[in-house]
Amino acid sequence: MKKVFILMGAGISAESGLKTFRDANGLWENFKVEDVASIEGFEKNPKQVHEFYNMLRPQMDKALPNAAHIAIADFEKRADISLYLVTQNVDLLHEKAGSKNVRHMHGRIDETVCLKCGHVIKTPEKSAFDDVCDKCGAKGYLKPNIVFFGEMPMFMDEIENELKSCDVFVAVGTSGVVYPAAGFVQEAKYYGAETYLFNLEYIENNYYFDHQILGKASETLPAFLQKL
Ligand code: OAD
Ligand code: ZN
Repeated sequence: MKKVFILMGAGISAESGLKTFRDANGLWENFKVEDVASIEGFEKNPKQVHEFYNMLRPQMDKALPNAAHIAIADFEKRADISLYLVTQNVDLLHEKAGSKNVRHMHGRIDETVCLKCGHVIKTPEKSAFDDVCDKCGAKGYLKPNIVFFGEMPMFMDEIENELKSCDVFVAVGTSGVVYPAAGFVQEAKYYGAETYLFNLEYIENNYYFDHQILGKASETLPAFLQKL
């Protein structure tokens, strides 16, 4: 059975109306990464960090999956392939499209974690730093369950194994600047996978992608997955 590893980035959610991070007018043009997505920023001003994700949450709640999300959900159902789907996105558009097994390596917008005991809860409409943890009762330790710069992404052991054993590696809508995700293609290729990038823009000097397919993921990805 063909093993397919798919790594998603913000580009796939752009067509559902969510902002990417580094494109023109992207999130990081309007907010400082170090303020709202770094562990140092969180230590300095946790209130501001909670407010940022409280602002994003309703936009993500409203967004609807597009043709690329739906094509991936259909792909997962196929009996002749085995799909391992990793997303860097914290939105839940894959789940809304019907994907069953999604690894959110950078966390999820609908979760809050207690830094004292590690307990993860579903975020109510808004989260606040000084809410009390359901499990350990500590106050002042809650953080959006989103991986910040300075923290380790989730599922890394499992991801390593999947990169080593996949036959096809596909990255979609990701600028390839945030590690470790940006290094996955190199590893997959090293272990023998055929590698593809579906992106709006060409990534220069990347020797690890065998194929770079330019265009909107909603237009390029469905046909490709059908042929695989
Ligand atoms: P970026 O914003 O860095 O890159 C998005 C990429 O998607 C760009 O290369 C665009 O060309 C491409 N793109 C835009 N629209 C597209 C479309 N319709 N079809 C195909 N491609 C399209 O986003 P990421 O690479 O996902 O971390 O960013 C990685 C991480 O940086 C994020 O997960 C986030 C951020 O800091 C956290 O929030 C933890
Ligand atoms: Zn706790």
